[in-house]
Amino acid sequence: ALQASFACKAQNQSQRYSANNQISSSFKVAVLGAAGGIGQPLALLIKMSPLVSTLHLYDIANVKGVAADLSHCNTPSQVLDFTGTPELAAALKGVDVVVIPAGVPRKPGMTRDDLFNINANIVKTLVEAVADNCPDAFIHIISNPVNSTVPIAAEVLRQKGVYDPKKLFGVTTLDVVRANTFVAQKKNLKLIDVDVPVIGGHAGITILPLLSKTKPSVSFTDKEVEELTVRIQNAGTEVVDAKAGAGSATLSMAYAAARFVESSLRALDGDGDVYECAFVQSELTELPYFASRIKLGKKGVEAIISSDLQGLTEYEQKALEALKPELKASIEKGVAFAQKQA
Ligand code: NAD
Ligand code: LMR
Repeated sequence: ALQASFACKAQNQSQRYSANNQISSSFKVAVLGAAGGIGQPLALLIKMSPLVSTLHLYDIANVKGVAADLSHCNTPSQVLDFTGTPELAAALKGVDVVVIPAGVPRKPGMTRDDLFNINANIVKTLVEAVADNCPDAFIHIISNPVNSTVPIAAEVLRQKGVYDPKKLFGVTTLDVVRANTFVAQKKNLKLIDVDVPVIGGHAGITILPLLSKTKPSVSFTDKEVEELTVRIQNAGTEVVDAKAGAGSATLSMAYAAARFVESSLRALDGDGDVYECAFVQSELTELPYFASRIKLGKKGVEAIISSDLQGLTEYEQKALEALKPELKASIEKGVAFAQKQA
């Protein structure tokens, strides 16, 4: 029931009331890269959450206006703006969840890995500041290439002696959102009911929707499986090409990231029934990081759901083996970058 109404679910299940019968929302969320294409709509959606007390918006430029604009919405959270490196530490102090969409997006013809040279440094610098100022926070990495930026973040946190693998997440929610949308369209299902686990990583063939595990149970022809899998894997490129040089997915990404933030806050708030897919440190396969369904709890990843990998179809099993070399290389590239910089 999470897909279409993450905010409603939070409202229904996690409201707490203060003495004067107002909802008491108590979590602090920071968005790093908040003036960007994802950052702005994401900040708006987080501003609507009843679980958020304070929203810290950080960017290297243009964040003052975004914060002034947002602060006029009559929802409970207070919005504070922070610009540039001198204000980064203050942006992170006391924060429960840090979301990082800072970095450059793709243009037509580029792969996500083509963003590595610029975004690796941005993520490294920002995660160093997270380690210094809010090492206990949940960290949501959106900046691409996620298959490499998450290992970079892990190495940086390790070097700082504060790495908690349960609290570092590569955000792959958009892959699930897309899979749910495309499957519901193709099979004429009610959107709210559809849930497709997406495993592996977040680039090309490393994105593997497990259509055989779709809930509710649906049967697909081989042709449908092929078409849906390829569309889900190429959905980011579909948007990049449609935007024709003006960037990549921002609105659907903001929607997906806000869902993952809301799920994290519900878990922090004690809801014992929170499941999402994310790219995390994992022992599900021989790779050190892997996206799969996880159970979220107060301390981060409470469990990695291994049952999704049992009873795969032949198509899924082959696709799983085929994605491993690329995902392994992307992970190793991130680790090598961070170790070289240390
Ligand atoms: P954008 O260019 O519109 O915005 C990026 C923002 O980051 C800008 O406001 C910029 O000023 C800021 N920024 C740059 N360097 C910074 C730094 N050092 N500190 C703080 N802020 C900094 O780009 P966008 O469309 O919002 O995309 C952002 C990133 O998200 C890209 O890398 C893109 O590939 C990625 N992305 C990931 C997913 C996913 O599913 N994980 C989906 C869509 C986009
Ligand atoms: C997406 O999947 O939309 C993002 O990773 C952005 C991109 O470059 O495709």
